[in-house]
Amino acid sequence: MKSTADFRTMKQNGEKIAMVTAYDAPSAKHAETAGIDLLLVGDSVGMTALGYDSTVPVTMEDMILHTRAVRRGAIGTFTVADMPFMSYHGSLDLALGNACRLMQEGGAHAVKVEGGNEVLDVIHALTRAGVPVTAHLGLTPQSAGVIGGYKVQGKTAEQAGKLIREAKKAEEAGAFMLVLECVPLQVAERVRDGLSIPVIGIGAGRNTDGQVLVWHDLIGYSGTRVPKFVKKFADLAPEIEKALRDYKDEVKAGAFPEEGHSFFMDDEEVGALYS
Ligand code: KIV
Ligand code: NA
Repeated sequence: MKSTADFRTMKQNGEKIAMVTAYDAPSAKHAETAGIDLLLVGDSVGMTALGYDSTVPVTMEDMILHTRAVRRGAIGTFTVADMPFMSYHGSLDLALGNACRLMQEGGAHAVKVEGGNEVLDVIHALTRAGVPVTAHLGLTPQSAGVIGGYKVQGKTAEQAGKLIREAKKAEEAGAFMLVLECVPLQVAERVRDGLSIPVIGIGAGRNTDGQVLVWHDLIGYSGTRVPKFVKKFADLAPEIEKALRDYKDEVKAGAFPEEGHSFFMDDEEVGALYS
């Protein structure tokens, strides 16, 4: 399994880091088999798997359940778990307790927190306690309500300057990795060049140390519209729907199951069924 030190070395060597989200054991296993460097149990599970329209309703219990499933499916892959909405605000004790649960009960190797200056003390306290922390800047979906939607961040030099300073402070606070979401390519490049920890982009262009995508977006599993920054490497939703439609049609027509799908008794035993 790769370690936080390996990810830093990969950055130093210019070797790109490929990360993907995972929410359950089979998807995690597929990612591990494909050679993905590390997994993120994102609170995007709220949208991809739980049917919510934002990440806000996702609870610690949801995150622990899905992190455990992912860890069972990909026992040899470094796994970061998202700290869900409001699980690391208010007090450092709350943040420490919840990070501890994600690691001890969920089996996560690291956690991720959204935000800049307002979470520096959290990053510092967790790191000091032995919890590897991934920071998350740019578009931070847990604050979509405050930001006013899901928009590209850091488009002006002033906003970008703030973001670049916050990224540096997150590194100084102890973060081992930074996720940068929905920012202009030039801003991501500048952040990458200014940090010695790996910068993983999503909607941040190619000039980062690595990329992360949401599992369902990457394989076209959800069947819903995907953001501009996503590339669908497969388009599975239509195939899944076709399989289900074919199944339904064959059940209704009495064509499935066939003999080959059935179990049989010996003839003399069958006679007894009707005696
Ligand atoms: O929850 C998630 O999937 C994420 C990624 C988009 C970085 O935080
Ligand atoms: Na997330």
